[in-house]
Amino acid sequence: MAERWSPDSWRKKPIQQVPDYPDRQALADVEKQLATFPPLVFAGEARNLKKHLARVANGQAFLLQGGDCAESFAEHGANNIRDFFRMFLQMAVVLTYAAASPVVKVGRVAGQFAKPRSSPIEKRDGIELPSYRGDIINDNAFTAESRTPDPRRQLDAYRQSAATLNLLRAFATGGYANLASVRQWMLGFVKDSPQSRRYVELSDRISEALGFMQACGLDLESHPELRTTDFYTSHEALLLGFEEAFTRVDSTTGDWYATSGHMIWIGDRTRQHDHAHVEYARGIKNPIGLKCGPSLKADDLLRLIDILNPENEAGRITLIGRFGAEKVGDHLPALIRAVKREGRVVLWSSDPMHGNTISSASGYKTRPFDLILKEVRSFFEIHQAEGTYAGGVHLEMTGQNVTECTGGARAISDADLNDRYHTVCDPRLNAEQAIEVAFTLAELLKSERSGAVRALPAAAGL
Ligand code: TRP
Ligand code: MN
Repeated sequence: MAERWSPDSWRKKPIQQVPDYPDRQALADVEKQLATFPPLVFAGEARNLKKHLARVANGQAFLLQGGDCAESFAEHGANNIRDFFRMFLQMAVVLTYAAASPVVKVGRVAGQFAKPRSSPIEKRDGIELPSYRGDIINDNAFTAESRTPDPRRQLDAYRQSAATLNLLRAFATGGYANLASVRQWMLGFVKDSPQSRRYVELSDRISEALGFMQACGLDLESHPELRTTDFYTSHEALLLGFEEAFTRVDSTTGDWYATSGHMIWIGDRTRQHDHAHVEYARGIKNPIGLKCGPSLKADDLLRLIDILNPENEAGRITLIGRFGAEKVGDHLPALIRAVKREGRVVLWSSDPMHGNTISSASGYKTRPFDLILKEVRSFFEIHQAEGTYAGGVHLEMTGQNVTECTGGARAISDADLNDRYHTVCDPRLNAEQAIEVAFTLAELLKSERSGAVRALPAAAGL
């Protein structure tokens, strides 16, 4: 019999990655205030997302999840949000059209502020300060004042998340995502690249297809699905005091939901089965992601799945592997076999970013584009060999023209990193690189799905 769960039951468990707030009273006051604020998302939306993810788990759609490693207060603005959304739409449309697969769109956005760190302190020139833990906790500048966790930043993170989500919802439903505008989502700096030529070609074919349908007598205006899209938000549920304040009962079902975002995930550093982060996640009904790194053993994974999804509900669990291009072959197959053997329904996704981070010769933290693609390819090959479905990707990317990951069609080199290295955390794909990933994914997905369709049982009506 499981112990009783409540939104604060995590407080009695051991916990990793907690900021050291000097003023406990101020923290408690902020949490109390946050608990009175309107939720960012509605439980019904989280349920819809779960249904979509269940379809992915069944091989009928693909999950595209991505965004900044960490959102920042300084980069918050309408243009950044718009450019991110445009890039996301381009990637989604490439996958939808080229692989003829529905795409579930989940941003790593509107709440992705708190960061786990490998060390609680950072040392520079003999000075030791608390590590930067994301804008919701402290500031990146290397001074004692900036690095001291300040609870009021949680209020700013809430306001920024609300404003970001508001604009994304407006774009998703207000006409910006109309398939008739597919050409206009192109970002200026991507023009004149091999990616842009491929994209223009694809958008021409979509326009042709729409024109053909119209000529056949189909009234495009009467089909809202051509004009709007479902866009969901997600973040790592790391700062549990903040999450608790947004954990609300859904009045229509009586269930608890995290209302800080549609989907939340548990990081690879905080997934101990008897610790606070798993305790928090088990009691809410949202879709849950679980990051799986090389240290995760099959038995531990099965135990976590039992705790987080005792009823084996499809769409509840997304396993996000982040092994590294060289290690994925050593680790993923055993996890797949264990999950399959136990008959657990999960969505398998690949995060090809976090296992492929290196230090460049010039001292920057970077990720070689080739390794990112290599991990994605291996992910598909392994699932093909195991007879399972490679259902999604989880990327760190930005709509801005940054130089943070090396390689790609424009061959960003070590020396180029210095040009536009803007991330406060991990290196992100720029829009051009992200679209290149989307084209590669589309090919992989297309061949995967032609196999998957053939493998469907006759009862599916095919
Ligand atoms: N509504 C569909 C979907 O979201 C089709 C669609 C409309 C679409 N606008 C889009 C797909 C933008 C990708 C990108 O899948
Ligand atoms: Mn990251």
